[in-house]
Amino acid sequence: MPIFAPTVTLNNGHKMPVLGLGTWLSREGEGIEAIKAAIDAGYRHIDTAYLYRNEKEVGQAIREKIAEGVIKREDIFVTTKLWNNFFEPCKVAEAFKRSFENLDIGYIDLYLMHSPMSFKFDGWELGHVDATTKPEYADVDIVDTWRAMEELLNTGKVRSIGVSNFNSEQIARILQQCEMKPVTNQVECNPGINQRKLIEFCRKLDIVVTAYSPLGRPNYYEMDPVKVPKPALDDPRVKAIAEKYNKTPGQVILRYLVEIGTVPVPKSSNPVRLRQNIDIFDFQLTKEEIETMDGLNTGKRTVPFHVWISHKNYPFHIEF
Ligand SMILES: NC(=O)c1ccc[n+]([C@@H]2O[C@H](COP(=O)([O-])OP(=O)(O)OC[C@H]3O[C@@H](n4cnc5c(N)ncnc54)[C@H](OP(=O)(O)O)[C@@H]3O)[C@@H](O)[C@H]2O)c1
Repeated sequence: MPIFAPTVTLNNGHKMPVLGLGTWLSREGEGIEAIKAAIDAGYRHIDTAYLYRNEKEVGQAIREKIAEGVIKREDIFVTTKLWNNFFEPCKVAEAFKRSFENLDIGYIDLYLMHSPMSFKFDGWELGHVDATTKPEYADVDIVDTWRAMEELLNTGKVRSIGVSNFNSEQIARILQQCEMKPVTNQVECNPGINQRKLIEFCRKLDIVVTAYSPLGRPNYYEMDPVKVPKPALDDPRVKAIAEKYNKTPGQVILRYLVEIGTVPVPKSSNPVRLRQNIDIFDFQLTKEEIETMDGLNTGKRTVPFHVWISHKNYPFHIEF
């Protein structure tokens, strides 16, 4: 039986399921199958990005599930993101059009600025981009990009706009100088960096925090245990809570993130973990257990974007 996540109402009235499927590193083919399996499992919120180069597969999987009669378009909430190379206001509409056509699902629920750091436009085909690539920086004001994002709302092709990897000062600038509020700020959030202060800042502004890398990217830790902080999945305190509820450590972490008010978007291409990750709505952590989970916060990022640290809009120099 599918399990459905409850929804949160965004500051513009649209509703977003409080748990979504991440798709970074969802490989070709595997991506389509994983997304279809996720929809069968009950996921109604999918997070992609132009950068991930899998918008076409995400769109195809959704269209196939609509054709099978499993969902209707309006049942599913799809997020994609404007990559840093396309922040010049004159590029935003074309960048959006490309994501819109890649997905080909009639409209996009949520379009995010992927970060506050603009890079020089270098063509629409992105070369290899990862934590080691340092593109040429550009100096586009986030306010100018955001105003171009606001104009997209007039096309009717996107329902909500938001930001990702913004710090509190960058959000405050948008609020002071622009008309529309972001509905969400998507940031790294897991027990190792629980973002309590940023969550509270955003809560007061009616901006939802979406939690990326909610499981602390165990795959990155395995590859580089020296640089990447150890995810909480193996922590004995998390394991003890998991045993009490007959749940897995991953489920306890995701439940914690929902209870502190965020919307986690765990990525899995594994059918068993996919199902486990959404099966978190039949138990509740006690106040003491939340405090125990809070105790795992070190503030260390799994996704620090170190290679772009010299960018003038690098967001992580301040505490939140
Ligand atoms: N806005 C941004 O800048 C930004 C940055 C990073 C990520 N994101 C978004 O956030 C999503 C999630 O973050 P992420 O992919 O970086 O990290 P994550 O979701 O914390 O971790 C994903 C890894 O955990 C494994 N996994 C999944 N469920 C598990 C479980 N229950 N127990 C143990 N391992 C489990 C997955 O492997 P299997 O697939 O084999 O299960 C995968 O290797 C991304 O996919 C992307 O959509 C956004």
